[in-house]
Amino acid sequence: MSNNVDPAAFHEFEHEGWQEVATRYHDAFAALTTQSVVALLDAAKVTEGVRVLDVACGPGYAAGAAAARGASAVGVDFSSTMVEEARRRYPSVEFGEGDAEQLSSSDSSFDAVVLNYGMLHLARPELALSEAHRVLRPGGRVAFTVWDTPDRAIGFGIILSAIQKHGNMNVPIPPGPPFFRFSDPEESKRALIAAGFSDPVVGHVKQVWRLPSSNALFEIFFNASVRNAALLRAQEPEVLAAIRNEIQQGVEKYRNDLPMSSVLASALR
Ligand SMILES: C[S@@+](CC[C@H](N)C(=O)[O-])C[C@H]1O[C@@H](n2cnc3c(N)ncnc32)[C@H](O)[C@@H]1O
Repeated sequence: MSNNVDPAAFHEFEHEGWQEVATRYHDAFAALTTQSVVALLDAAKVTEGVRVLDVACGPGYAAGAAAARGASAVGVDFSSTMVEEARRRYPSVEFGEGDAEQLSSSDSSFDAVVLNYGMLHLARPELALSEAHRVLRPGGRVAFTVWDTPDRAIGFGIILSAIQKHGNMNVPIPPGPPFFRFSDPEESKRALIAAGFSDPVVGHVKQVWRLPSSNALFEIFFNASVRNAALLRAQEPEVLAAIRNEIQQGVEKYRNDLPMSSVLASALR
């Protein structure tokens, strides 16, 4: 974590953001983030009867898919509006409010813990890994996905280079940990081992995001993300128009089919 990160301020900023975007998140991101769920659950060895905790569950995709495999699934998210979304989508699955950095579950109460694109939003991701370790039984498995680097998760490459080219990166947003920290396989392995896990395995999941229009990428991030939305919303109107145009042109180059690869890390408790 860089020295100027105030974890409490960043945590509060993320919480407010997710509370606000929860009802828009599914339409914006489900077609993308659900693509890694099968690989995530496989990496955590989620099969029938396995007790699995989906941390930072959002609308509950991983917990819902785990339940469909016959697992005993529970989802937690620190946003009450996300939890409402999850309960609505998967009424037979148990969801509750909870903080990834301080889980309320008892020690050794799960066989698997998964985080689908949760780690990169946390103020203190090390605490989430320690908590996953605590609630897992010995021999249980943790697995998480994060976005790959912007040269492979091309949507991020397009957005960030458009903001860097036209915009102001120094806007008053609480600084957070580096967004692409765990995209580095060695860093993911290091963090897993530091949290007490063994046998870390890190791979890439190839994914393509089929966007309905070349303007969709801007709209999605402007309306349904947190950190990037705050960065975009803080720009002057004419700068924002230039960024939007640049993003649109970037998406057109891929004919709206954006490579959005992710990194999948897993390890043994
Ligand atoms: C990018 S969304 C991922 C949602 C879902 N897992 C998916 O696959 O689409 C990130 C989620 O992390 C949640 N989140 C962020 N920080 C959290 C924390 N400290 N504890 C619990 N949930 C958190 C947000 O509320 C949001 O639902």
